[in-house]
Amino acid sequence: MSEREREYVLGTGADELSRLAVQHRLWSDAATAAWKSAGIQPGNRVLDVGSGPGFASFDLASMVTGSGAVVAVDESANFIQHVQQQAKSRGLAGLSGRVGDVQKLREVLAKEAPFDLAYARWVLCFVPDPAAVVQGVADSLKAGGAFVVHDYFNYGAMTMAPRRDSHDRAVQATIRSWRDKGGDPDVVGRLPAMLVAAGFRIESIVPHNRIARGGDAMFTWPDMWWRTFAPKLVDMGLLAAYDCQQLFADLRAIQQGAGFVQCPVVYEVIARKL
Ligand SMILES: C[S@@+](CC[C@H](N)C(=O)[O-])C[C@H]1O[C@@H](n2cnc3c(N)ncnc32)[C@H](O)[C@@H]1O
Repeated sequence: MSEREREYVLGTGADELSRLAVQHRLWSDAATAAWKSAGIQPGNRVLDVGSGPGFASFDLASMVTGSGAVVAVDESANFIQHVQQQAKSRGLAGLSGRVGDVQKLREVLAKEAPFDLAYARWVLCFVPDPAAVVQGVADSLKAGGAFVVHDYFNYGAMTMAPRRDSHDRAVQATIRSWRDKGGDPDVVGRLPAMLVAAGFRIESIVPHNRIARGGDAMFTWPDMWWRTFAPKLVDMGLLAAYDCQQLFADLRAIQQGAGFVQCPVVYEVIARKL
């Protein structure tokens, strides 16, 4: 793959940073509940795998308190700079960032003590070798440590109700764009086998199914997603400009009460290192 092909498909600019902030706000309840189910405690050492700009890392750092530590790993220097700046301005002394490839965690975390908990949200679906990430997480956890994942399976089930061609084409273009860069929007289907092979016991697999109606906070999720990503799909040549315009018109109609968006189901997997 060339450098351009390897470039992360969603980008790491200011628009994507803002979208990740909103997305985290909508999903922070589910994330916090999952970390609690996995047994997070003050004093824990936590690894945020593919942390992006760190919105989950900030919450994790406040949960493990000053006696614990959170290490955020992402390949984007821009996002990790945001983690470091915010750690300073929010007074989160235990939070630090590392720029690196999550498929090579052994190298990135060479001098780190083992972790009690690792979290990976919406990153396994973007990497060509998710099994390498899972193995790297296994190697970096203490025995009995927890791995919490939030990611996708059956992404193609995202649709508008009533169905709209513009939306279905945009979903198919999204899937194509991720696959073209080595990602897999069905990755959670392969995750149980990867976890077992890396020495984990699976404690739970729970689907989070959401719909988004105009007027609901959750409507912001598909709305911001398409407003940020659909123009990029047009630039990539995967979506016609006409479909993009029609998609925005269809979203406005949904916002005004014409129906709802069936969001992609987010699967929560909690596994324990044996
Ligand atoms: C959709 S964002 C999710 C960020 C964060 N986990 C969250 O939930 O807000 C995916 C992140 O994965 C990162 N990423 C993708 N491939 C990566 C790789 N091979 N190594 C490290 N980070 C990667 C991207 O830079 C991006 O920040």
